[in-house]
Amino acid sequence: MDFKVTPWEVEGEVDYNKLIEQFGTQPLTQELLAEFEKKAGELHLFLKRRIFFSHRDFDWILRIHHEEPFALYTGRGPTGPVHLGHLMPWIFCKYLQDKFNSNFYFQVTDDEKFLFREELSVEDTKEIAYDNILDIIACGFDSKKTFIFIDTEYAKTLYNIAITVAKRVTFSTTRAVFGFENSTNIGMIFFPAIQAVPCFLPSILEKRKAPVLIPAAIDQDNYWRVTRDVAERLGYYKPAAIHNIFLPSLTGPSGKMSASKEETAIFCKDTREQVFTKVMNAFTGGRATIAEQRKFGGNPDICTIYQYYYFLFMPDDDEVEKRHLDCKSGNIMCGPCKAELAERIWTFLEKHQERREKAKDVLEEFMLRD
Ligand code: TRP
Repeated sequence: MDFKVTPWEVEGEVDYNKLIEQFGTQPLTQELLAEFEKKAGELHLFLKRRIFFSHRDFDWILRIHHEEPFALYTGRGPTGPVHLGHLMPWIFCKYLQDKFNSNFYFQVTDDEKFLFREELSVEDTKEIAYDNILDIIACGFDSKKTFIFIDTEYAKTLYNIAITVAKRVTFSTTRAVFGFENSTNIGMIFFPAIQAVPCFLPSILEKRKAPVLIPAAIDQDNYWRVTRDVAERLGYYKPAAIHNIFLPSLTGPSGKMSASKEETAIFCKDTREQVFTKVMNAFTGGRATIAEQRKFGGNPDICTIYQYYYFLFMPDDDEVEKRHLDCKSGNIMCGPCKAELAERIWTFLEKHQERREKAKDVLEEFMLRD
């Protein structure tokens, strides 16, 4: 097996069916999607296209929702600027909040990134946290039902719950799940207790035993395994999770987008020019020459441009299918296909950036403080 997914690194070409096996999660089946469609009245693009592809107890969440509404929880480790890949679970949370009227809890783990990243100071991660929160708010959440907190600033509440978790998780468990070693700093060893807290926070703040659904990339699942193991002993429900795959890197078919490699991703703060440059230089499934491409067609299945359309920027099913065919049959060349994508991305980003600016004035309405 030539790929690796942990909360810290994603390497190689990821085989998502193997991941389901490895993580011991459930695939999102056709029946479950049909169930969702009945409840929500429609299927979000991310579900229809299996961008969210795996889950734990999502069926249970749907089943009990009428009697016991679920809260949403997701998070962000502030290491640098937010890119389009980060937005995917947030866009999905916004959709679920609208559909199910859910309270939404968002954890910003500046402590985690300080502890895990040699090069970042406490001041750095806090500053990045506040910057990233603007992108979260720009996704359009309802301020009355959205609760964003930064770990080091919401520490009093978090710590008091975290110790109840930490008391029930051994070093040997976290070593097995996260690969910690004797040389691992002790902050990192404690941290999984902090990331577990928002799974229980809705129960505490809403004064009811609250089901919680976590939309997040699959690499975070280790945390939920540990949390689920202790939940019932602490008197809470096990958190449910729904996992998305990674938006591919613009520079090739392997690995996820990376904040440390500027050209691999489109960042939310990129200018129009940056978007065009990155998209025009992206890895495609095109042939070496136009003549060859006309004759033999391109390969959309390995093309990052096609994947961007598929994931986010071509929601119409007929249109995306036609693009796939047109590419394979040599009817469309990479130049115009890229230019069109860049234009669509920029249309999206321009609006996002406007909302991002406005978020500065209302940030405090979204913050949970103790
Ligand atoms: N550990 C996550 C990261 O590195 C941040 C995070 C905290 C998170 N809580 C979460 C992500 C819940 C998804 C869901 O980015």
